[in-house]
Amino acid sequence: MKLDSRLMAIANLVRKDKSFADIGTDHAYLPVYLVERGIINRAIAADLRVGPLENAKATVELYGYSDKIELRLSDGLKNFNENEADEIAVAGMGGLLISQFINETKWLKNPDIHLILQPMTHIEDVRKTLFDNGFIIDKEIVAKDGNKLYIVLSAYYYEDFTAYTQLDLIVGRLPQNEDEPSKEYLHKIYYKYYKKYCALKNSNKECDSLEKIVKELKKCLK
Ligand SMILES: C[S@@+](CC[C@H](N)C(=O)[O-])C[C@H]1O[C@@H](n2cnc3c(N)ncnc32)[C@H](O)[C@@H]1O
Repeated sequence: MKLDSRLMAIANLVRKDKSFADIGTDHAYLPVYLVERGIINRAIAADLRVGPLENAKATVELYGYSDKIELRLSDGLKNFNENEADEIAVAGMGGLLISQFINETKWLKNPDIHLILQPMTHIEDVRKTLFDNGFIIDKEIVAKDGNKLYIVLSAYYYEDFTAYTQLDLIVGRLPQNEDEPSKEYLHKIYYKYYKKYCALKNSNKECDSLEKIVKELKKCLK
């Protein structure tokens, strides 16, 4: 099994010998890769719909891992019990849906559980939801696939209030990274906010707080 760089970035974050769940698995590439490499021994590949779960079944059977990878219909984590998985990946979905899973699944508030999240949109909302629920983001990775950049967040429950600034929501841990995709992503974010700021300024609207953010973002560029 070969993974693209987006799924590979997620796979690289999975801790060895833990139980793994892939929420919204579709083709089940991630669990099959992890079992094949001996990173995990058992996994649950879950999806909301029968069609994607059929795709998952086909991949799992093709690779001969039906005894190690359970297929499960589940809306988010609703059909999961506490302690069924300690590595949980949610990838390729919108950030608002991912935030909803975090908000509604109280048992995720367990320091032993590792969340690996790859939102396609609303990344700032996912960071905010994590912080507001007492999680810390220990690592963020930017995966580049063709011209596209994807963010992968690694998070743990911290049993405490997580203080954050607006800049934390916008860039997260990325300023710590030295790799080219992270630098490219930060430039993109900077120009997005810079354009917003220029538009407000040119129409004589209040833009002091945005100006402050733009200045802070500029300091994050390398
Ligand atoms: C774009 S695919 C991503 C597949 C894979 N995780 C990846 O990153 O390549 C999104 C998958 O999420 C599933 N999905 C959407 N809403 C869901 C929900 N509420 N609970 C579980 N799975 C969901 C879809 O059925 C689809 O298979």
